[in-house]
Amino acid sequence: MKYRYFGRGTGIKASPLILGSGMLGNVSGYGSPPDEAKAILTDFVVAGGNFIDTSDAYQFGQSETLIGEFISSCRDDYIISSKYSRTASQKPSVAAQGSHRKAMVQSVEASLRRLNTDRIDIYLAHMDDGATPIEEVVRGFEDLVSAGKIIFGGFSNTPAWRVAKAATVADMRGWAPLGAVQLEYSLLQRTPERELLPMADEFGLAVMGYSPLAGGVLTGKYRKGEEGRATAFKGAISHNDAGLSAKVIDILVEASEQLGASPGQIAIAWAISKGVFPIIGPRSAAQLEDNLGAASISLDNETIKRLDAASEISLGYPHELLASIRQP
Ligand SMILES: NC(=O)c1ccc[n+]([C@@H]2O[C@H](COP(=O)([O-])OP(=O)(O)OC[C@H]3O[C@@H](n4cnc5c(N)ncnc54)[C@H](OP(=O)(O)O)[C@@H]3O)[C@@H](O)[C@H]2O)c1
Repeated sequence: MKYRYFGRGTGIKASPLILGSGMLGNVSGYGSPPDEAKAILTDFVVAGGNFIDTSDAYQFGQSETLIGEFISSCRDDYIISSKYSRTASQKPSVAAQGSHRKAMVQSVEASLRRLNTDRIDIYLAHMDDGATPIEEVVRGFEDLVSAGKIIFGGFSNTPAWRVAKAATVADMRGWAPLGAVQLEYSLLQRTPERELLPMADEFGLAVMGYSPLAGGVLTGKYRKGEEGRATAFKGAISHNDAGLSAKVIDILVEASEQLGASPGQIAIAWAISKGVFPIIGPRSAAQLEDNLGAASISLDNETIKRLDAASEISLGYPHELLASIRQP
């Protein structure tokens, strides 16, 4: 795999694909059993992958535990991201949830135990709770960095203006800089292009793009009547379809015939071409093998242009007004 710097602010070299672990484990009732999960982890690192994303909430802690067992013999070789705010509990108490510092401090200790490590490389607030002052979160990250428990903090599912404020506050106060944002990004979810991606570029933050296959939709399998998350685990797929999927899948299928790759591989390669680190979420070793093929595809400009056009979204105000004014 061709390693890339993880944002402009970290100097860490990461594989172009991040292995997501929401489906590693089966405590939630849907996912891969532990043996299959271990095969996925093994195949990913054998292929050169060095970055694994998890959360205390995935499979109610089982995902972190499986990763902890896997990385214990060569912890330093892997970049591990995890998240807090939802907890590992199946019935989280009110006080334990949220992006506040109490939740952060409690959760990081539990994640470190499950991950069988003394530090988490990228630690993210999983969901913005809309109430915790952003200074409280960044100060919490600063203390965890100073204590050697995390290397970089970051934000997932958080409005761009909140992350921009966090990055600025950290900079002005001499606190540890943020490392990354994590957001949903795919051919069916391009709304981060309005604010989140330009913000990440301005602050040099790495972008971890989750659900690059829109939960499996972009493999084109549902068109063929196959079963999957959308049919077996309803509600677990969220993407801004806006009626685009038929058009986009048509082009993916066409391009896959021309390039000798699967539609899903092309969808993931498209996300890589946008400078994002896609987080893949295979549920089996066979799906992983297919997903990994994306790392060696270099899409031609013509294919990217066609996919861009089919998946185009309105950037809205003020971007469209400014674009019209700035045109030569
Ligand atoms: N920060 C957040 O809030 C957040 C939210 C969501 C995800 N994430 C992260 O991002 C990761 C990936 O998310 P995701 O699972 O939604 O990614 P995705 O790549 O869009 O979807 C993965 C799913 O697509 C299906 N699939 C994958 N390859 C396939 C193939 N070759 N053929 C047929 N079906 C295939 C599988 O589902 P089925 O076989 O079950 O249909 C698989 O679980 C997660 O594991 C997690 O680490 C983060």
